[in-house]
Amino acid sequence: MLLNRILTIAAIGLTASGFVIPEGQEEGTYAVEFVDGVEVHTKLANATVYAPLPKPYASEPQPNRLIRRDYSCGGARDLHHGNTDAANADLDRQCGGGVNVNPGMNYYSIRGDIVAFFCNFSDREAKYCSAGGRQDYSREITKACGWYNSGWFTFPNQWSIGYDRGRCFCGGCA
Ligand SMILES: *[C@@H]1O[C@H](CO)[C@@H](O)[C@H](O)[C@H]1NC(C)=O
Ligand SMILES: *[C@@H]1O[C@H](CO)[C@@H](O)[C@H](O)[C@H]1NC(C)=O
Repeated sequence: MLLNRILTIAAIGLTASGFVIPEGQEEGTYAVEFVDGVEVHTKLANATVYAPLPKPYASEPQPNRLIRRDYSCGGARDLHHGNTDAANADLDRQCGGGVNVNPGMNYYSIRGDIVAFFCNFSDREAKYCSAGGRQDYSREITKACGWYNSGWFTFPNQWSIGYDRGRCFCGGCA
């Protein structure tokens, strides 16, 4: 059993690149990279004054019985709407019209108790993060998980995007 666990941890170490947000991290947008096995968090931008996007992503969820298995719902319900929208909007500012996120690099934005994140699980390829894509996935997360409940979409071994409370993301505390 112990050997199993060690092997599992080693395997995760090779493929996953989840992260843990340092306690007391201030609001803003960050990149996380692993440098010699150490998580390095770099602040990319301060939190901005939230301005609603012309087309808000969070349209009222349609009744939808078909929940795709690639969507995971976190445990948090009825997240603070303003903080959720603002964290997602700051992540959108970072990803913009589309940026390549390097292997093993993750982005996140903090607003209040909410974190919006994009994780690149690949150890080889850059993954594409864009504001438009983020908004599409957030709409689907809303359908799968409910109105302002935490959730994320994961393309296994490739990338993950979503929002939740807490400090551990993308398997960072697994
Ligand atoms: C955030 O704002 C502070 C104070 O205005 C400024 O000194 C700092 O450079 C900003 N940080 C980033 C990453 O833009
Ligand atoms: C994803 O991670 C890989 C490996 O660290 C890196 O080369 C690639 O640039 C990352 N992609 C993005 C979009 O950050």
